[in-house]
Amino acid sequence: MRLQGKVALVTGAARRVGRSIAMALAQRGAKIAIHYNHSRGEAQRLADEVRDSFGREAGLFKADLADVRDTQRMAQAVLRQFKTVHVLVNNASIYEKTPFGDVSRLDWDAHLDVNLRAPFFLSQALGPAMKENGEGKIVNVADWAGQRPYVDYIPYCVSKAGLLCLNAALAKTLAPEVQVNAVLPGPVLLPENFTPKARQAVIQATLLKKLGSPEDVAQAVLFLIEGSDFVTGAAISVDGGRLIA
Ligand SMILES: NC(=O)c1ccc[n+]([C@@H]2O[C@H](COP(=O)([O-])OP(=O)(O)OC[C@H]3O[C@@H](n4cnc5c(N)ncnc54)[C@H](OP(=O)(O)O)[C@@H]3O)[C@@H](O)[C@H]2O)c1
Repeated sequence: MRLQGKVALVTGAARRVGRSIAMALAQRGAKIAIHYNHSRGEAQRLADEVRDSFGREAGLFKADLADVRDTQRMAQAVLRQFKTVHVLVNNASIYEKTPFGDVSRLDWDAHLDVNLRAPFFLSQALGPAMKENGEGKIVNVADWAGQRPYVDYIPYCVSKAGLLCLNAALAKTLAPEVQVNAVLPGPVLLPENFTPKARQAVIQATLLKKLGSPEDVAQAVLFLIEGSDFVTGAAISVDGGRLIA
């Protein structure tokens, strides 16, 4: 699918990896629906940059993805403004340390609601129209840890494992018009509170002995949208070999 003139909704687009994905899609000619929750200022700056740098239309859409009604309302607001959505990138996520023994029901629900339930309801809100229009792409940003979980982050890892099942299920449901794929990043942008020691440990745990970048993830997303229409239900690791290390 060519992105020129198409409409792409990117969740969690205001900052970090989501921002890089949104910029990459805008650079290829897409109009961008920028979803954010708390990062209003950064979302506004991204919209300005999308317009100034690439001359593309950008809209801001706030929603708490832990809330199904708010998520569905946001999808309708995007459709009202842009008339159609060709590309959905489920990027927003919660990633919190939740040591076994101390996991609360709130921790569990927060990860599953934002990282898994919201991508489902957004896909359900937007996927059928993509199918009717004859083309569409859904990209789910998962994590290598959805295939090989690590300790202290069980709700997060389970949410990403569920997202991989959702990825395959949506690929079947929306075929042949819509392709649904996942990107599995490894360490590309560490949480801002990581110590230098923790950072080194993460680097050493990759085969390539380095961190990736948000642009590495954005390039994989671009490939899944523009590079091939013959890939669906796939999960592409962009992890420096972390999964198999
Ligand atoms: N960073 C990495 O190295 C890495 C590694 C593996 C996988 N990943 C995956 O790649 C994606 C992007 O990573 P990242 O590090 O850039 O993500 P992030 O900074 O942890 O979060 C991205 C955005 O998710 C949004 N979000 C969180 N809770 C939300 C809620 N309840 N409602 C709506 N939005 C919510 C936030 O938007 P607001 O700021 O607007 O509130 C946040 O800016 C994620 O799916 C992550 O799991 C990243």
